[in-house]
Amino acid sequence: MPPTLQETSPAAPSKVFIKTYGCQMNVYDSERMGEVLSERGYVTTQAVEEADLVILNTCHIREKAAEKVYSELGRLRRLKSRGGRDMKIAVAGCVAQAEGEEIVRRAPVVDLVFGPQTYHRLPDLLDRHGETGAAVIETELPVDEKFEILDAPATKPVRRGVAAFLTVQEGCDKFCTFCVVPYTRGAEFSRPADRILAEARKLVDAGVREITLLGQNVNAWHGDGLAGHDWTLGHLLNALSDIDGLERLRYTTSHPRDMDNELITAHGVNPKLMPYLHLPVQSGSDRILKAMNRKHTAAEYIELVGRIRDARPDIAMSSDFIVGFPGETDADFAATMDLVRQVTYAQAFSFKYSPRPGTPASTEASQVPEEVKTARLAELQALLGEQQASFNEACKGRVLDVLLEKPGRQEGQLIGRSPYLQSVFINAGDHAIGDTVKVAIETVGPNSLTGHMVEA
Ligand code: SAH
Ligand code: SF4
Ligand code: F3S
Repeated sequence: MPPTLQETSPAAPSKVFIKTYGCQMNVYDSERMGEVLSERGYVTTQAVEEADLVILNTCHIREKAAEKVYSELGRLRRLKSRGGRDMKIAVAGCVAQAEGEEIVRRAPVVDLVFGPQTYHRLPDLLDRHGETGAAVIETELPVDEKFEILDAPATKPVRRGVAAFLTVQEGCDKFCTFCVVPYTRGAEFSRPADRILAEARKLVDAGVREITLLGQNVNAWHGDGLAGHDWTLGHLLNALSDIDGLERLRYTTSHPRDMDNELITAHGVNPKLMPYLHLPVQSGSDRILKAMNRKHTAAEYIELVGRIRDARPDIAMSSDFIVGFPGETDADFAATMDLVRQVTYAQAFSFKYSPRPGTPASTEASQVPEEVKTARLAELQALLGEQQASFNEACKGRVLDVLLEKPGRQEGQLIGRSPYLQSVFINAGDHAIGDTVKVAIETVGPNSLTGHMVEA
């Protein structure tokens, strides 16, 4: 029997508060940091004031995202001096990787800086800090070591919700000219299939019903299959769907270049694979796509979406867009609007281009003025908003399978997800979180649906 918490540490357990910025991979990493620390007797807290250790798990993708970290560090500094407490402050994630020591120079309140590939060393980093009291900075990129260590079975059970993330691939070798990810996350790395299957089984045993496979380039995942074959993501999804008790699979984020036939076919034949695909295109102009180093044309993307829809006609398409990339003209932007009209999206994320230090596009002379970016973003978002509204509108009157995930604000209300990733509000009757129920959709809003349960 493992010792209980009381046996190992008679004092109250240390508390850690983790704040997560950025993408779902950071959400996954924050959960794993919590696990690593729980092995050390830490418990997580939602109240920053009572934390002994505060971790900001940061994002460097756009300037705004990175700057948020420094304003939060200012707040923490005031909190720490007001309370006079010995609160340790750590900066993790992509800003940590990109800025390293610079963070401690700008914000001396910081005790630990560690990148996305070294958080498994957290106990050791805390010890090192404890010995000298000096700031500890760890920004190597040993991704395979991280997963080796994280794959060791947890000695304490970890509570999970109904839907969980599972990182299968990390890093990126694509070097789009606007993007920091290849520098903050390092080279592309795929976790072995057997480890992924084992982690998925563990999640399902802990009550998880839906797993979203994560990777900066998730569909570039590849590995040794179980029967001596090389696997790509389509194979892996099919193997995962054999797990009893697992009801739904998703994956994100995909690059158009890595959408192979195996994966497209899986959308047609694998009933657990949900009909939703986030497939960022960034721009509809071939000139800009080339300057971005995306390595496909607008026509190739549209043709690809056509093949995906042939396999799964009702699939909800999603994308990311950047407006105001250096050199983007009115004609280039018009090409993006045209592409959106041709594809039609159920959901999308769009951003003004933000020059990032160290990326090739940031030093281009032809930067687009801020007011032009603002106007283009508004125009694009209006069109994407209309498309999202009509996708939702078309669900009215349909009966959708909804996986119930969490309680709503009102008494008896539960919130779940449709196959198309829409939030659905229902009065749940006897049904409980973790059930999948059939819901007749009655009303639709821009971001959610409501309905009532019908017999299966
Ligand atoms: N791996 C994914 C994207 C990861 S970053 C892909 O290849 O599509 C998430 C999104 O942030 C990107 O799709 C892009 O739209 C946006 N983004 C990345 N760098 C940006 C920058 N410098 N300025 C504005 N948006 C950016
Ligand atoms: Fe960034 Fe491009 Fe890699 Fe996506 S594919 S993470 S946008 S470099
Ligand atoms: Fe941000 Fe790093 Fe994710 S830069 S988007 S947290 S990979």
